[in-house]
This record gives sequence, structure tokens and C-alpha cells, in this order.
Amino acid sequence: MPVLDSQIALVTGAARGVGEAVSLRLASLGAHVLLIARDTQRLNQVGDQIQKNKGHATVLPCDLTDLDAIARLAEQVARDHKRLDILVNNAAIGGTGQPLHEVSPEDWDRLIDTNLRAPYLLIRAFAPMMIAARSGHIVNISSLAGHNPLPNNAPYAASKWGLNGLTYSVAEELRPHKIRVSVIAPGSIDTHFGGGHSSSKDPAKMLQPDDVAAVVATLVTQAPQSFISEVLLRPTQKP
Ligand SMILES: NC(=O)c1ccc[n+]([C@@H]2O[C@H](COP(=O)([O-])OP(=O)(O)OC[C@H]3O[C@@H](n4cnc5c(N)ncnc54)[C@H](OP(=O)(O)O)[C@@H]3O)[C@@H](O)[C@H]2O)c1
Repeated sequence: MPVLDSQIALVTGAARGVGEAVSLRLASLGAHVLLIARDTQRLNQVGDQIQKNKGHATVLPCDLTDLDAIARLAEQVARDHKRLDILVNNAAIGGTGQPLHEVSPEDWDRLIDTNLRAPYLLIRAFAPMMIAARSGHIVNISSLAGHNPLPNNAPYAASKWGLNGLTYSVAEELRPHKIRVSVIAPGSIDTHFGGGHSSSKDPAKMLQPDDVAAVVATLVTQAPQSFISEVLLRPTQKP
């Protein structure tokens, strides 16, 4: 029997890149995957791929910067599934590539709402179900930019440093409830994030979305007594 059989997993940013790879991987392990992003067409393509592979997926378009949309999403998951076993907070946007003093408050808010407020809102929505079930995995996708300075992208770095701090703290809050909250901090991945990789990086050396999906799979299939709390994932050779 597939190891995640009968489990419900929600993956944000499932329309492409890392979120797509994570969704395909969790579905291949038997989970029913709830696919979240704004682009319904791309989500349908990912859902079709999962179904072609004989997996289970439901497309749930949602703008994660919209508080009411997240509330409706949580209601739908509670009504249709009555449980959530795995939450992967993966959706994020990149910065505008400016020094901080030139960043507009609107761009700051959009980035922080997507990269940091949305994971908070989803944990707020779904942790109570996991607490009631006394089990669950929450995996937050951060970045090595959450461990390093990132000149000309301070809002992005701040969102990922913030996501790390949020993860470490919530992990301690939820450990007594047998819920494992972990964070993955990858280096450069070959996706279209922020408009695609810069010409100075060699895509052949970059991480692939599947490399992150493999780590997510490891985290959510650990033995009950084992808790890998953080993974720093670097490309073997600097791209
Ligand atoms: N690529 C890298 O080099 C790299 C390195 C380190 C860490 N990461 C992290 O890895 C994660 C995935 O990145 P990626 O490279 O796969 O990015 P990506 O290809 O740009 O995908 C981002 C996903 O997030 C979704 N999204 C963005 N804003 C949203 C919103 N308001 N509501 C709902 N969904 C939204 C997008 O779908 P829609 O546009 O359809 O909504 C898309 O599915 C991110 O957390 C990123 O910070 C990436």
C-alpha cells in the first residue's frame, strides 16, 4: 500500500516549479493532493498529470494574499475532507531587485503577504485540525536567502528569515501535539521563479524542483519518533 495512502496534503504554489514537483511526488506516494495557486489552467494541467498517473488531486484556486479566500479554502477542506495531514507552504514571489529605500510599500506588502502572512494564515486555519488528530506535518519552503544577506532583495530575505523564525517557534508550539513543523532552505533552483534563472547561473548545476520534492517526501515519511526540523539544500557545485 502506498505510504501516504488516505492522507490529505495541501500544497501551495502547485501550479509550477517546486510546488508542482512536490504535488506529483506526494500523489505518487498515495496522498490526495489539494493543489493551490491562482492560475487555474496550470493547476488543471498538474491535476490531469496526477490523475494520468492514477493519483488523486483536487484543484482549489486561491489567492493566498486574500484573507477571505483562505477562510473559504479552509471551510471547503474541512467540509470535503475533515482532515489535513500535510501542509506544504511553498508559494512565494521574488523581490523587485531594488535597494530597500526604493521599494514601494505596495511591493513590500505584496511580498510579505505572499511569503510570510499566507503561511501564518494557513497554519492558523489548519493547525486546529491537526491538533485534534494529534498528527500532521507542516513543511515551509524557505531559502538560503533566509540565512544570508541579500542586497537589493531585502524584502525577500526578510520574508524568508521571518519564515524560519516562524517555523522554529511554531514547531515548539506543536511538538506536544505530535505535529512536526519543518523548514527547507534551498539554494538556486532551476524554475521560473522571479522571471527565471539569471544568465550568470548555469542551469545544469542548479537544483531541480524534484530535489526539493525528494526532501519533502523524506520529511513526511519519517518514523513517528523522528523529527528532521530543518534542511539546508545546496547545489553540489555553485551554479
Ligand atoms: N527558484 C529558486 O531559485 C528558489 C531558491 C530558494 C527557494 N525558493 C523557494 O521555493 C519556493 C517555490 O519557488 P519556485 O521556484 O517553484 O517558484 P515559481 O516557479 O515562481 O512558483 C511559485 C508558485 O507560487 C504561486 N503563487 C505566487 N503568488 C501566489 C498567490 N498570491 N496565491 C497563490 N499562489 C501564489 C504561483 O502560482 P500563481 O502565479 O498561479 O498563483 C506558483 O505556483 C518559494 O517559496 C521560493 O521562495 C526558490
